[in-house]
Amino acid sequence: MTQFAGRLRLGVNIDHVATVRNARGSAYPDPIRAAKIAEEAGADGITAHLREDRRHISDADIDNLMEALSVPLNFEMAATDEMQAIALRHKPHAVCIVPEKREERTTEGGLEVAREENRLAHFIAPLREAGCRVSIFIAADQKQIEAANRIGAQVIELHTGAYCDFHAEGRFDERAAELERLREMSAFAHSLGLEVHAGHGLTYETVSPVAAFPEVMELNIGHFIIGEAIFRGLSPAIAEMRRLMDEARCQ
Ligand code: PXP
Repeated sequence: MTQFAGRLRLGVNIDHVATVRNARGSAYPDPIRAAKIAEEAGADGITAHLREDRRHISDADIDNLMEALSVPLNFEMAATDEMQAIALRHKPHAVCIVPEKREERTTEGGLEVAREENRLAHFIAPLREAGCRVSIFIAADQKQIEAANRIGAQVIELHTGAYCDFHAEGRFDERAAELERLREMSAFAHSLGLEVHAGHGLTYETVSPVAAFPEVMELNIGHFIIGEAIFRGLSPAIAEMRRLMDEARCQ
């Protein structure tokens, strides 16, 4: 989106507000209220993943987000006919195609674009025609980036989960190698004309090196921010992430 060109955007993922709500089958905490607070606290966009099993975000949440948001919605979804129909009904600003397995706790690994090029090219074409910016969530792997480019994606989102896991486990050589891979692949994707986003598992401790990559235009961050909100409140939790991103970007 041109209005944010140059500034590293923060997309706040509100899935886990819905996780807490659904744990008790209650109406609260309300993810739409969280999204509105996030907007006020400086989020440039809201990300929500409608999983096939509806374990957190519901169809009604997507309806309500489309109605309530004044910042863009980044709608994360698996490449299924059901999700494509929902996206085409709503026409969100952005659609991020993610791999999804029912048994996983979270989105593990990026999408295998190279092996499914033909199917994915046909899958994303109507989404692009409907005006959605199509993003593909992939590992920092040249083969996958080239395939994402060939199928006509406008954006790739690089999976930062492995980097964050190495950091958390104190495996610093592997952390450094993965960070270097992310850096190189951000530059490579940018050189192909793709817009580069990144996310998954980012925390206050891990965000800065990724935020410093000049080709990265957007970070999507959820679980850590929502967890941190328990201790310091949602607005301060977002404001601190924003501060760290801006600081890393300026250096
Ligand atoms: N980006 C994508 C494509 C994701 O699937 C997720 C998790 O839903 C995130 C970013 C955010 O990850 P986290 O909740 O670990 O910050």
